[in-house]
Amino acid sequence: MAVSTNTDRGSWNSKLGFILAAAGSAVGLGNIWGFPTQVASNGGAAFLIIYLICSFLIGFPVMVAEITIGRNTGKNPVGAFKALHSNKFFPLVGLWGVICGVMILSFYTVIAGWAFGYAFEELFLALNMPAAADWLKDTGNGLKNAIVATVFMLGTIKIISGGVSDGIERATKTMMPLLIGILVIMIVYVLFQPGSAEGIREYLLPDFSMINADLIFSAMGQAFFSLSLGMGALITYGSYLNKKENIPQAAAFVTLADVGIAFLAGLLIIPAMYLAQSNGVNIFVDGQLADSTTLVFTVLPALFNSMGFIGTIFGVTFFLLLSIAALTSTISLLEVPVSYAIDEYDVTRKKAARNIGLGILVVSIIISFNPNLIDYFVIVFNNIGLPLGGFLICVFIGYAWKTENAINEMEYGFAGIRQTLFVKVWPIFIKFICPAAILYTLGQTLVGLF
Ligand code: PHE
Repeated sequence: MAVSTNTDRGSWNSKLGFILAAAGSAVGLGNIWGFPTQVASNGGAAFLIIYLICSFLIGFPVMVAEITIGRNTGKNPVGAFKALHSNKFFPLVGLWGVICGVMILSFYTVIAGWAFGYAFEELFLALNMPAAADWLKDTGNGLKNAIVATVFMLGTIKIISGGVSDGIERATKTMMPLLIGILVIMIVYVLFQPGSAEGIREYLLPDFSMINADLIFSAMGQAFFSLSLGMGALITYGSYLNKKENIPQAAAFVTLADVGIAFLAGLLIIPAMYLAQSNGVNIFVDGQLADSTTLVFTVLPALFNSMGFIGTIFGVTFFLLLSIAALTSTISLLEVPVSYAIDEYDVTRKKAARNIGLGILVVSIIISFNPNLIDYFVIVFNNIGLPLGGFLICVFIGYAWKTENAINEMEYGFAGIRQTLFVKVWPIFIKFICPAAILYTLGQTLVGLF
């Protein structure tokens, strides 16, 4: 096993550290902004079902694969592929991941800035400062978008400069239970409002005729994005992981936490959309979503504002928690190119974090002034880029490095693995089911385009 001797690499402090950090990476805007928006634009419950299938049957096996590659090599995504096989093509898979991560981070920072801005918007509204509140809530204001995105990126750079363990572990430990608590309270509130039943029906009663190639493509992309897969974030986090950790168990926990929080977010936001619509907020125009990119930022403040004073407390807390959730994800997005630079080009952590972070910020500023670019970035780097990365990771393990070597690595920290069903089923998923499903999904979409 090749272990980097670079002292700028890190490791997780506690046994829980990795799980918290990986869950922190997974849980973010993907769950609370991405998932409900996709449900709303892609046929409600039908999308939910395909998303669950993609997460558990495709995402989970790929997550185990990524963490195993990372822990075995102790390297960044490019270095890891180099270390495991002499074929020159596979390091390019790692490089593609680094590129997707960089591009995703550039638009993610803008949306994270919106969430952060809304925490203060709610506060200014309560303090009777409507001008400041209006300024913060204008998602079309390029200058404002650029300012909050810059604040967010500087925070990310600061944490990554300090190293991987302390900040991420601590932030996630308190954020996650609080976020779940506030989601549950809000769901109970919404369910008691007259008019929410239509949203519940939309979210939980599937109309299978809605399932088509487009829906499956979006669900697959959403599952990869939400679980932080396909771009090496979990190869990188796995590279800091101790041999004592049980990889399949950790991956199962992260998948369940991520899918669970997305499900709760949908249960809150889909009914809240219908409430907002019946209160005169323009959610649908001619049966189509008015603006999908900013949907959540229209629906949630409307909900909080309908609750009176207590709504302000919920609103501020919710958007602050969402910002922290986004921060634990931007950290993992920036960590990928930074670990690559540290390992492969021998730069210091501080310098890598600053230069790469500021470089990405330039793209974020362009997006701040043109938020409609987000849709295109999502299609190319998220919906196509991440599943493609996942497909290549499966091919790599299944046919180059071999699943047997991966199982040997998993045996550390999971002594009885050879007696489990997992050991029989996982290789079949990695070699056949996952790559075939991803290829089919991407292929169908390509065919649909021409
Ligand atoms: N999973 C994160 C979210 O749901 C986004 C992310 C994607 C993070 C890819 C890292 C890598 O918000």
